[in-house]
Amino acid sequence: MTDHLVTSYDQAETLLRRPDLRQALYDAGAILMKDVLVNLHGAEHRVRRSAEARVFRRDLFVHYEKEVFPRTLEETLRPFLAEGRADVCSLGYAVMLNLTADFTGIDRPERSAEETGALLGILRTLGKAPTLGQTLAQDKDRIRAEIEQALALFDQRFFAPSRARRQALIDAGTPEEALPRDVLTALLRDPRTAREPGDVLMKEAAFYLLAGAFTSIHSMTHAVHRLFEWFAAHPDQAHLRTDIDFLQRAAWETARLHPSSPITRRRPVAPVDIPGLGHLEPEDTVTIDLLAANRDPARFGADAAAFNPLRDTGAQPWYGLSFGTGIHACIGRQLALGVLPRDDSGAQDRQYGTIPLVLHALMRHGARPDPDNPPRMDTISGRPNWAVYPVMLG
Ligand code: HEM
Repeated sequence: MTDHLVTSYDQAETLLRRPDLRQALYDAGAILMKDVLVNLHGAEHRVRRSAEARVFRRDLFVHYEKEVFPRTLEETLRPFLAEGRADVCSLGYAVMLNLTADFTGIDRPERSAEETGALLGILRTLGKAPTLGQTLAQDKDRIRAEIEQALALFDQRFFAPSRARRQALIDAGTPEEALPRDVLTALLRDPRTAREPGDVLMKEAAFYLLAGAFTSIHSMTHAVHRLFEWFAAHPDQAHLRTDIDFLQRAAWETARLHPSSPITRRRPVAPVDIPGLGHLEPEDTVTIDLLAANRDPARFGADAAAFNPLRDTGAQPWYGLSFGTGIHACIGRQLALGVLPRDDSGAQDRQYGTIPLVLHALMRHGARPDPDNPPRMDTISGRPNWAVYPVMLG
């Protein structure tokens, strides 16, 4: 078995778009990941994705961003504002978890801190599944047992009641416009996916929570750090602190420099010759170094490794390959980072994305580094993310 490492942006982009290469990053995390969308290929992937894509529509994003999200955000911020400080990571978990649970179709009937904490605890354990391949051999069995336990808890407390409520509405002939608009409802309504075994849908829902919430939280915290550094180095640009268009560009630039997973991996579905790599057998893999590809000077210029939110990116947002490309391109990208202004769109239906909106709220409330509590990186997950990021507010 040979692993081929790819670091150039152009080659990485071409490879990710090849239909004869399939997902290989989650082989070791099969306990959760085996039958989830990002691990499916060919017809299976097409069917599942098309059922779920019905939820990820612009009108729903705009509605969510204008009507639902501002309330959730202000409610979540209130206790932090009262204290005059926040840990950006904890704040991120509270905001993004609720958002992703709504889109996934996981009810939190109590809406209590205990309930959110329980869901978060489950997800923190499940979050170890995608990276099981990079875990020390002696820890693997223990972590697998923890994941089994967390899945059982998720099923019992969150998934089964959410599924039963949706199924009852569907069985009662509820008209489409009165049904919840979420991934679970979409899967239960589509005859092609409704018959999937129960644990497949349960794991799909758990995967959605991880894919949507954890990525957004890490990206948001990196953006806060990058912005603090940038404003400290550019005091003449202080007026941009609360400029939402600028903050959206900063979020794109952050996404490029800090992909949520530093690598992705593929393997061929059958023996194949690939330009630049040679002959590959199905047991060979291609590791795509997203961190390197997104800083490739051949694509992004001589200052590719620098954080420059004022970078001229022409008519394209430049988040590099941080949201993937090809069949597995992120389904939630627009929800997280919005769209560029269009000639025909007014301020009311311009969609900025949840990360820029949280950045905007933090900056409006005067977020600045906490001099007594420096931020700390996560040393447990093996991924270069912040674990704690204290800020002062007000
Ligand atoms: C900053 C935020 C986010 C980042 C950096 C991110 C990143 C990614 C990446 C890199 C992939 C492709 C994986 C691969 O090719 O192996 C992906 C796929 C995916 N993302 Fe995101 N994501 C983000 C937010 C979200 C949100 C908010 C949701 C849902 C609410 C979401 C749901 C998904 C799903 C379901 C897939 C699998 C798509 C498929 O396989 O067809 N993501 N994401």
